[in-house]
Amino acid sequence: MHKSLRSWPYRKVFLTGGTGLIGGQILREMLELPAVEEVTCLVRTSNGQRGSERLSARLEKSGLSGPDLRKALARVRPVEGEITLGLWDIKPDELHRLRNETELLIHCAASTSFVDVDSCEAMNVKGTKHMLEVIQGCEKLKRLVHFSTATLCGYKPNALVKEQDSPSEKDKHLVAYTRTKAQAEQILWEKRQELPLLVVRPSITMAQGSEDPKQARLFLWSLYAMAQLPFVPVRTESLIDIVTLDFVVKSTLRLIAKGEKLAHDCYHLTAGQMASVSAGQVKEAIKRVSKEEIGPQFIPPEQWNKSHEKALEEQGLSTLYESLLYLPFINLNLIYDNSRLLDELGDDLPHLPKFTQYVGQMLRVITPERILPDSLQGFGT
Ligand SMILES: NC(=O)c1ccc[n+]([C@@H]2O[C@H](COP(=O)([O-])OP(=O)(O)OC[C@H]3O[C@@H](n4cnc5c(N)ncnc54)[C@H](OP(=O)(O)O)[C@@H]3O)[C@@H](O)[C@H]2O)c1
Repeated sequence: MHKSLRSWPYRKVFLTGGTGLIGGQILREMLELPAVEEVTCLVRTSNGQRGSERLSARLEKSGLSGPDLRKALARVRPVEGEITLGLWDIKPDELHRLRNETELLIHCAASTSFVDVDSCEAMNVKGTKHMLEVIQGCEKLKRLVHFSTATLCGYKPNALVKEQDSPSEKDKHLVAYTRTKAQAEQILWEKRQELPLLVVRPSITMAQGSEDPKQARLFLWSLYAMAQLPFVPVRTESLIDIVTLDFVVKSTLRLIAKGEKLAHDCYHLTAGQMASVSAGQVKEAIKRVSKEEIGPQFIPPEQWNKSHEKALEEQGLSTLYESLLYLPFINLNLIYDNSRLLDELGDDLPHLPKFTQYVGQMLRVITPERILPDSLQGFGT
């Protein structure tokens, strides 16, 4: 156990999103802490699979198996729920128990879709409002950790974004996801006097080290899809902020472990100036591992015109091009300042590698033949 976690202050934890990428890893690592007596996980049934089975499958993806998995699961209590519904649709006796016991609530559940506006509204905005009802009368609640996103700053090209810069109602947004995550934070900041709030804002989070192709291809699919095109409107020098899952989860737990000693109530969990990479560097890194001259040619966005789009159309590549919803984000050239986190954790800052150092290893895990069909399906095109 890392020394910063030895004085972990919370015994009874309530977690949402435990079947997801970040929540699942949070669960895995919290179960390493002897001070954690029980983690209650809000979970949906899916395709007839019960909550306990889904959480078990998620922990397996994080490397737990056999007796270790059984031992870990003994401290996990699944509770059925649905964040889009009032009181998260938790049964009254469960709600009573949670309100009596919870010391730490970590809210990871959200819609991360870039296209499904309704799910973003329902999960990110309504889900957050419902959380405030759920915690009514939670006498022992000492910390509420809300997973937000650094991208909630919206459309601010070429900026160095600090935590205190956002959110603002005046911000423009490229997609409903970032807008609704900003609204969710606003709802919580309005109650900041009454809540033991800690907001963490990761940037693009990569499942580096995961052997699971589905986890590994998040975001990476878009680079692979881009490589199928002859040219794309990308600024070579544009900086992209990408972090590892390990960095996000370890940073979060080390912040939580500081209890009331934290200097701030909101932290970027981002690569910042130190570890952001340019689009050109990413292209070079991929070229090094693939050992071949792969596309696409980067065209500066201001030189992109109808003739490029016509050429893509003629080659039957328009749908693929239109599915690249990350493109405008790549061109934003944003740095999410992480100096609060660096100051807070000091020598306890988890390893923060640059994306270019591990993209090659991740490309070996993904199954390229599934990327295009899955991506196009996932983006509703
Ligand atoms: N991944 C990133 O790059 C990234 C970057 C910045 C911020 N974040 C933020 O970090 C948090 C976790 O993201 P993630 O990548 O781990 O997301 P994820 O893998 O998509 O997981 C989402 C989780 O939310 C649960 N969920 C979704 N809708 C629900 C509902 N209606 N009721 C109950 N549970 C529901 C999902 O449960 P099911 O398994 O039942 O679907 C799943 O456990 C989110 O708040 C996200 O905005 C993520």
